[in-house]
Amino acid sequence: MTQTDSTPPSKPTAGLAPDLDRESTPRAGDDGAGSPIPMNRDGGPLDTGTFTGNLRRLLTNARAAVFRTGRPTSDRGRTQRVFANLFLHVHSTRIHLNSLRASATMGMGIAALASFLIATITGVLLMIYYTPATELAYRSIKDIHYTVPTGRFIRNLHRWSAHVMVITVLLHGLRVFLTASYRRPREFNWVLGLGLLAITLGLSFTGYLLPWDQLAYWAATIGANIAGSPRELTDAVGVTSWFDPGGFFKELLLGAEEVGQPALTRFYLLHVMVLPILLAALLAVHFWRVRKDGGLARPSDAELRAGGLLPPPGPDNPSATAFVPGPTKTYGLMALVRGRTEAVGRGPEHTIPAWPRAFRAELAAAVIVVALCMLLSIVSDAPLKEQANPLVPENPAKAPWYFLGVQELVSFSAFMGGLVLPGLVVLGLALIPFLDRQRDPAGVWFEPRIGGRRWFLVSLVVGAAVTVGVEALAIRFGWIRGWFAGTRLGPWFADPPQLLIIFINPATVIALLFSAWSIWVYRATRSTRLAAVALTAAALIGFVILTWIGTVHRGPNWDFYWRQSDWPVH
Ligand code: HEM
Repeated sequence: MTQTDSTPPSKPTAGLAPDLDRESTPRAGDDGAGSPIPMNRDGGPLDTGTFTGNLRRLLTNARAAVFRTGRPTSDRGRTQRVFANLFLHVHSTRIHLNSLRASATMGMGIAALASFLIATITGVLLMIYYTPATELAYRSIKDIHYTVPTGRFIRNLHRWSAHVMVITVLLHGLRVFLTASYRRPREFNWVLGLGLLAITLGLSFTGYLLPWDQLAYWAATIGANIAGSPRELTDAVGVTSWFDPGGFFKELLLGAEEVGQPALTRFYLLHVMVLPILLAALLAVHFWRVRKDGGLARPSDAELRAGGLLPPPGPDNPSATAFVPGPTKTYGLMALVRGRTEAVGRGPEHTIPAWPRAFRAELAAAVIVVALCMLLSIVSDAPLKEQANPLVPENPAKAPWYFLGVQELVSFSAFMGGLVLPGLVVLGLALIPFLDRQRDPAGVWFEPRIGGRRWFLVSLVVGAAVTVGVEALAIRFGWIRGWFAGTRLGPWFADPPQLLIIFINPATVIALLFSAWSIWVYRATRSTRLAAVALTAAALIGFVILTWIGTVHRGPNWDFYWRQSDWPVH
């Protein structure tokens, strides 16, 4: 790769990259250019040695065969350490100091990756004993849990790492949103991230069925009913006999009308092969795009914000503005390709070699995740109920906790709560970077310049009030049906058509009120970004409250109870 530039070469940053241009001392096996040819001190070919001498140096030579550079002592060596290694090369060789601040990422992306790796390794180990057949699956999980040495710990680790992955992926996505890091040129990576989120939830949902216990069976049945929920609509308008998308989706998911062996085979295949491979492939593109988009998002005045890490720019510190990008700066690759990338036009100011600081920080995040999952696996076992019994419904049948907010909405209408609203949320999220077309500032929490934090907090309060208000109304007084019984409004009001209940129910009312709030914020501020912040904050707190209600306050028949001890005893 060659660079052509009409401007003079940039100066190294004083104090920050002192040895950028200094050669590392040549060593055997480290000639500064990554050459594997061993040399003696005078630059001549090294003695090939005697048999016993080579035997003694076996380990050293084997190591040199794998790692061609020695311990780096200069920036050039550190750079080489990164680009000579397939795995480390996921980073660019230098990283901006702003990206190293803990608050820039909170380490959530790496934590999500670490938990995915733990789940993958433990999942492969579980596959040794697990049998995906309805008559054997439950017994094989019991064997893993109770008889296989370390089986329970591995199973617990798998379960906990899956939970940690869902949480960290959600928090990572939230961080990207709240720092507006989806802005140009990162729109594509944002949309890709939404795909990663969907696959993560898909992995969790398909894994839930595999133990084949009561919890698994009935949660999968709820999922299948959501897939089949377009029937709510087609039944209400009486066209199901010739147009039945709900039946098609359900059949596609289960391979039958009910959850059984075909469903277990499909879920297993999706869980151990299709979704992990898809996730790994998308992750590769995701990471590659982080590089190609010019590293992590940072505002144009990132140098000012680097929180004491950087000396302020000024006459005493010309390095802060040393690099002036030329208008014609491009890259060329062997005269074959020419063009501009995000990185072209940026100088090395306020960057340091990615090795070792960035890798150390990432390792620290990964170690914390491993320790957390291990700790949780020691203190808390993955649940296992009785073997699945299609004749005895689990009541209440609850999905994993992160789906319980959706399950609460589904209890009003599976079609609207389980398909339409989640679909609209994903569509809305995918559109955000194409509606908020600013570039700067990206990578800044809450965008204080336009009062982002204040609108976020106010929207949390509005979202909480709307969710609690509508839920309380529905729980205390039921929904529409019965509201007008005994009044003079007539039978239509006393027993309104099903179609009305499908479209106007607590879930859709909450969504409409959130949208109205977001539109109001747009009108008041004329800012797309603030309207998106308002909608997301309201949806976020709504999701938390609905999840809480679904987890803690819903009992048999999805009735509301203040505490589990109030549940009726059969
Ligand atoms: C399995 C799931 C995911 C993994 C393992 C992952 C991993 C990562 C990592 C390691 C980074 C580098 C910065 C950081 O550590 O925060 C990153 C950046 C990014 N991710 Fe993800 N991610 C995932 C899902 C998502 C989701 C759900 C979204 C959004 C909907 C998303 C959007 C982005 C964007 C836009 C960037 C660039 C951010 C910036 O420049 O500051 N990712 N991701």
